[in-house]
Amino acid sequence: MTTAVLDRPLLQSVAAPAAPAAAPSSLLGIDPAEFAANFTQVPFFIRHTLGQHPLFQVERLLQLARELPPSCIEYNAGQIPMSIEHEKTPANGLSPEETIRRIAECKSWLVLKHVQRDPAYSALLNECMAEIAAHSEAIAPGMCSPQAFIFLTSPGSITPIHIDPEHNFLLQIRGSKIVHLYDGRDRKLLPETQLEHFYCDRGRNMVYHDWFEEKGWTFDLQPGAGLHFPVTYPHWVQNGEEVSISFSITFRTPDLDRRRAMYQINDRIRRFKLSPKPVGQRPTRDALLFNGYRALRRLGLVKES
Ligand SMILES: [Fe+2]
Repeated sequence: MTTAVLDRPLLQSVAAPAAPAAAPSSLLGIDPAEFAANFTQVPFFIRHTLGQHPLFQVERLLQLARELPPSCIEYNAGQIPMSIEHEKTPANGLSPEETIRRIAECKSWLVLKHVQRDPAYSALLNECMAEIAAHSEAIAPGMCSPQAFIFLTSPGSITPIHIDPEHNFLLQIRGSKIVHLYDGRDRKLLPETQLEHFYCDRGRNMVYHDWFEEKGWTFDLQPGAGLHFPVTYPHWVQNGEEVSISFSITFRTPDLDRRRAMYQINDRIRRFKLSPKPVGQRPTRDALLFNGYRALRRLGLVKES
């Protein structure tokens, strides 16, 4: 398939040359060379066979919503600006079950979080992760903390621009989405201070600027396709004209824990009116600070921010 180009917007569709279809015994279709070239750096498509899977039928999702604790269900009105503070996102006035039953017309966005708490979804997640690990371990070793989320969205809903902390593949089950992704390696677009803010749990939504479009990609995500979101690459999503159901599968690796700690360290340094070196610019400095921070945490002298 075509590899994304960094310096211009690009519309990719699975109708174009695409990742290989999953083998009969597999859930995912992954192009090994494309995965090796792009994982953690550039978004790319994979394919999947979950379109008719019983775990994504509406009645099964309603059962899941009834069994998950309230803390694992987040939902709100879906017709909102593509740039908005999380706290200002409006409620939709319905219960989670009503939202799911009426998703076609209630103009809402709903996520079922950590669905791996249910053994059936856990087994499915683990199968997917085993297929991804066969490719990811050579690049980002130590896969851990696999998590899964199911998004249900009304036609025309918007997910505002934000960043996420995990390695992520978004598998489109039903309906379509236009995904706008921006290059998270660009520190003009995603400043160090924004990452410090994020890793200190002070918010994940961002302010959008028109010039972001020069630094991004636009993907037409159709059923049967999956899209890789590199860690903390800003993105926002426009739902298509039908109800959308998406399965987001995520995992962590030890280097991400270290990254989080480094941004927390730099946030502390900045509180003293100093300007810390960007994370990754001076590896020796990073290693010294990280090891010192970890030792202080083990002694209980420093808490995470
Ligand atoms: Fe996201």
